[in-house]
Amino acid sequence: MSEKTKKPTLRKLNLEWNAYRSKWKSALDRKLSVDLKGDENILYLGASTGSTISHIRKKTKGIIFAVEKSPKMMVELMKLAIKSDNIAPIFADARNVEEIKKRLFKKKIDILFQDIPSPDQVEMLSNAAQLVDKDCRIFLSLKIISVAHWDPETVLKKTEEKLKEHFKITESASLEPFHKKHYFYVLKKK
Ligand SMILES: C[S@@+](CC[C@H](N)C(=O)[O-])C[C@H]1O[C@@H](n2cnc3c(N)ncnc32)[C@H](O)[C@@H]1O
Repeated sequence: MSEKTKKPTLRKLNLEWNAYRSKWKSALDRKLSVDLKGDENILYLGASTGSTISHIRKKTKGIIFAVEKSPKMMVELMKLAIKSDNIAPIFADARNVEEIKKRLFKKKIDILFQDIPSPDQVEMLSNAAQLVDKDCRIFLSLKIISVAHWDPETVLKKTEEKLKEHFKITESASLEPFHKKHYFYVLKKK
């Protein structure tokens, strides 16, 4: 195992942006084009407690609109948002595009990211893509076993076919060994 993919100690895990805890970081380590210029507004679907957001918030002066539907996760996310000046938590279902639209206050979104393991991941993303322009960078973390429990190769093929109906896939990679059966896509609206 190389230095880069070696599992870090618990202490390090808490301090560093770690690929084992963040799909965005593992995509970066996989050399996908997911780095930030520094001024992007981000619509982040599936914010959880803000573990990844706590790192990307330091990489952009733009606003991170952080959508989360679990009240328990939202409480932790709010604690982070209070300490930050660029996190706008949105307590909503990511499928509720109208609700999210109201909370964006017409801000242009430069990056749309979705990290919500679910059988309707692609549909959820294509609905949310209504909220962004064609030049928006779109990132998807796909958990293959959440889509379906058939043979992973077939699920992946079918999911990619579905993705291509709505998006141009510009880059993709498996997130192994950091996240089992996860794939990451960099997309553009068609
Ligand atoms: C894999 S976790 C996200 C981890 C997070 N992106 C990170 O790296 O720190 C998925 C999150 O999506 C949330 N979630 C699930 N379904 C959702 C939905 N329909 N709308 C919004 N959030 C949802 C879950 O509550 C969970 O916190």
